[in-house]
Amino acid sequence: MDLFEYQARDIFEKHGVPVLGGVVATTPEEAREGAEKLGGGTVVVKAQVKVGGRGKAGGVKLAHSPEEAAEKASEILGMDIKGHTVHRVMIAEGAKIAEEFYFSVLLDRSNRTYLAMASVEGGMEIEVLAVERPEALAKVPVDPTVGIDQAKADEIVAAAGFADDIKAQVADVIQKLWTVYKEEDATLVEVNPLVRTEDGSIVALDGKVTIDENAGFRHADHAELEDKDAADPLEAKAKENDLNYVKLDGQVGIIGNGAGLVMSTLDVVAYAGEQHGGVKPANFLDIGGGASAAVMAAGLDVILNDEQVKSVFVNVFGGITACDEVANGIVQALAILGDEANKPLVVRLDGNNVEEGRAILAQANHPLVTLAETMDGGASKAAELANAAS
Ligand SMILES: Nc1ncnc2c1ncn2[C@@H]1O[C@H](COP(=O)(O)OP(=O)(O)O)[C@@H](O)[C@H]1O
Ligand SMILES: [Mg+2]
Repeated sequence: MDLFEYQARDIFEKHGVPVLGGVVATTPEEAREGAEKLGGGTVVVKAQVKVGGRGKAGGVKLAHSPEEAAEKASEILGMDIKGHTVHRVMIAEGAKIAEEFYFSVLLDRSNRTYLAMASVEGGMEIEVLAVERPEALAKVPVDPTVGIDQAKADEIVAAAGFADDIKAQVADVIQKLWTVYKEEDATLVEVNPLVRTEDGSIVALDGKVTIDENAGFRHADHAELEDKDAADPLEAKAKENDLNYVKLDGQVGIIGNGAGLVMSTLDVVAYAGEQHGGVKPANFLDIGGGASAAVMAAGLDVILNDEQVKSVFVNVFGGITACDEVANGIVQALAILGDEANKPLVVRLDGNNVEEGRAILAQANHPLVTLAETMDGGASKAAELANAAS
């Protein structure tokens, strides 16, 4: 999960990273109050959208009085920046910038380590810098078992070529940013720009933080960082039920157990769809190992509420959870959903106790359910039914 800049600012502050005062506003009036709260002097009004390059797009504007802050906020609120509508601004204390730097630490998946990057040529878009002046961007691997201690921070600062008179200060801030990365279970902490102000302090002026949601159980406070307005309502509902769901654009709802099986189910449905009016998978939904009636009902509930869905393909391979339990789950789920279950279901079961599972579904003889012998056959049937209903 990517955080908004104001959320990153708050987290930075919590871990002792030097930041400037910042207040969030959703209306020009709140922006005026925010600027007053910050002392009534020069502030910067900053669009809060989860995309870089806000400055260039006109989403970062200087204001010299609370009235001007309100004016700038009314210009920025509602603005579209690279497809993101601005619903909030942050009123930030204005910094007198002497120099702009860059720092980030991130998860380097391909090298199975963490990577710190730093440059004394900040402000510029880092992707551009990395391509045009790669020698100006220091890249220093960070051993996850050691992290960024004093020695590593000194190494990063030296590699990037920070001037002698600020080396110690920058190394200190870098270690604090590492604390953010580690303590918050982040996969990215980026500061662009990290600045030296005219009075010689080092301050993080813009922060981008990506939190690893898999570590959510360790951070009760992370749940409230989620941008509920932006979440797809079906994805939000699936999340509430701990379902692994991703909404896609097609017409055939998919339920399977195990990410690998669900991925290949998407493929066979897309392939089968080519013969049936070009229908496509409507979602990814992995109900995981314990395909109980409750989980099956929750999954079906999410998928059937997707208006685009015309048919559903349930593709389950019985392993630890045997097919008879899954079949009972489906029958009970349909009973729980009652009239809400209103789209045809194709069910393919295989693996542990498959005969028992099929017998249970045959016995229930639900009018919406068609049994399929094979995965390809099921995909084809589901695509055909979706096409017929489209
Ligand atoms: N609080 C601030 N005071 C003074 N200048 C700022 C402040 N925040 C940002 N800026 C200036 O605006 C530029 C762009 O802002 P930034 O927060 O980095 O947004 P983005 O990276 O999305 O363009 C910065 O490089 C800096 O020069
Ligand atoms: Mg920036």
